[in-house]
Amino acid sequence: MDGQSLQLDVSREEALAKATELIAAAWRSFDHFRPGQPPVGARMQALTALGLPEGPAPVLDVIDDAALALDESIAQPRPRYFAFIGSSALEIAVIGDALASCFDPNLAVYAAAASELERQAVDWVASFLGFPAEAGSFTSGGTISNVTALAAARERAIPGSRRHGMTGTKTAIYCSSESHYSVTRAAELLGVGSDGVRALPIDADRRLVPVEVAAAIDADRAAGIVPIAVVATAGTTLTGAVDPIDALADVCEPRGVWLHVDGAYGLPAASAPSASALFAGLERADSLTVDAHKWLFMPKACGVMLVRRRADLEAALAHEEDYLPHERDEPHAVDITLEYSRPFRALKLWLGFRAHGAAAFREAIERNLVQAQLLYAAVVAEDELEALCGPPPLSIVPFRHAPAGVADLDDHNGRLIQRLQEGGQVWVAPARVDGVVCLRPCFVNFRTTDEDVLALLDETRRIGRELALESA
Ligand SMILES: Cc1ncc(COP(=O)(O)O)c(C=O)c1O
Repeated sequence: MDGQSLQLDVSREEALAKATELIAAAWRSFDHFRPGQPPVGARMQALTALGLPEGPAPVLDVIDDAALALDESIAQPRPRYFAFIGSSALEIAVIGDALASCFDPNLAVYAAAASELERQAVDWVASFLGFPAEAGSFTSGGTISNVTALAAARERAIPGSRRHGMTGTKTAIYCSSESHYSVTRAAELLGVGSDGVRALPIDADRRLVPVEVAAAIDADRAAGIVPIAVVATAGTTLTGAVDPIDALADVCEPRGVWLHVDGAYGLPAASAPSASALFAGLERADSLTVDAHKWLFMPKACGVMLVRRRADLEAALAHEEDYLPHERDEPHAVDITLEYSRPFRALKLWLGFRAHGAAAFREAIERNLVQAQLLYAAVVAEDELEALCGPPPLSIVPFRHAPAGVADLDDHNGRLIQRLQEGGQVWVAPARVDGVVCLRPCFVNFRTTDEDVLALLDETRRIGRELALESA
């Protein structure tokens, strides 16, 4: 070890013991809600103002500072984090991340057992969801999964476009007006352009209308515009609506149009008996996106992208380079991925499935589905609360506080959410449904209890009433 400058100033065992102690304390603190979110304190402010350190600091102190930074951060694994679509960092997966970082295999080309295990984890995800995948990979998340799948769709619609570009050909992608913006991002990056995104109107259940999709495709074709793909969202980010996949496959198949299912948030619910019917026809899709760092309880980042035919991905992405010759039989991951160097993201999900079994994942998803129904029923039972959508198809429940006598309910609910965040008992973020400001809790955490869900109601009522009195 002599002569090496990047050495710890304590034994590895001491450093690890310190980290272990901090992780165990964090896990204990996630077992229950935390009454209040601490502000970023003076020490953290001073630390984050420091310039690049030229010399060393004691390792144990530095680890303590990291713990302080994390304690003063908004941590999604806490059981009352209901904003956006959280992640809950399953314990075995955290251990998987630490181990994967330590050995740091590169999943770019072929990393022996790690590559075999990624292939297996891809198969497990496919079988968990009921999708006949021939290939797929772990990605950094839904955005990259969507771009990857749509790159394959573009190459199928316009063979050779990856080489000669779009050469003036106008193209289009069809999705609902409530699809995730990453579909537009993909269109921009792939040369379709955001003008080529047909963000189609939705029905009363906020789902794509298949006849409208068919009409849009046919009208584009008649005008010389090439359809690249239909994107069905299986769990929209705003309300959890699931587009009708089977009926969209009926539109796509006879027209030879690629069907991609963006289930970054919602697809894990396809495994839950009470919700699986919503995803009928999934096996007919050409590709899908699912984020294990959302409703499969993994720490970020852990996206998964699956395709029905491996050749579609290879046609769009395979490369032969002098520094990457295809010498042996093993598959090159880079032939089917957008990224080159890739961390071993699959390990954590593989560990999760092995340590707990798929049934435990299904049960946890079912509990979140029931929690959304519980909240929805409580909201509709109360005069001063208003649900902005019908019964939740998945686990998002947009609602607002609407007491009599408050004139500007958007302002009231905006201030309410701010106060809720300041109070820190529950964590919600604002959203707008049809232009109406609301709370939009989303339940995707295995640690959330029914009591935590009802606490959201209590806090909303309590603070909402205070605000209403203040402005009366
Ligand atoms: C439906 C949907 N698609 C794609 C994404 C993007 O996923 P990521 O943040 O992992 O890139 C999200 C994120 O919330 C989403 O809800």
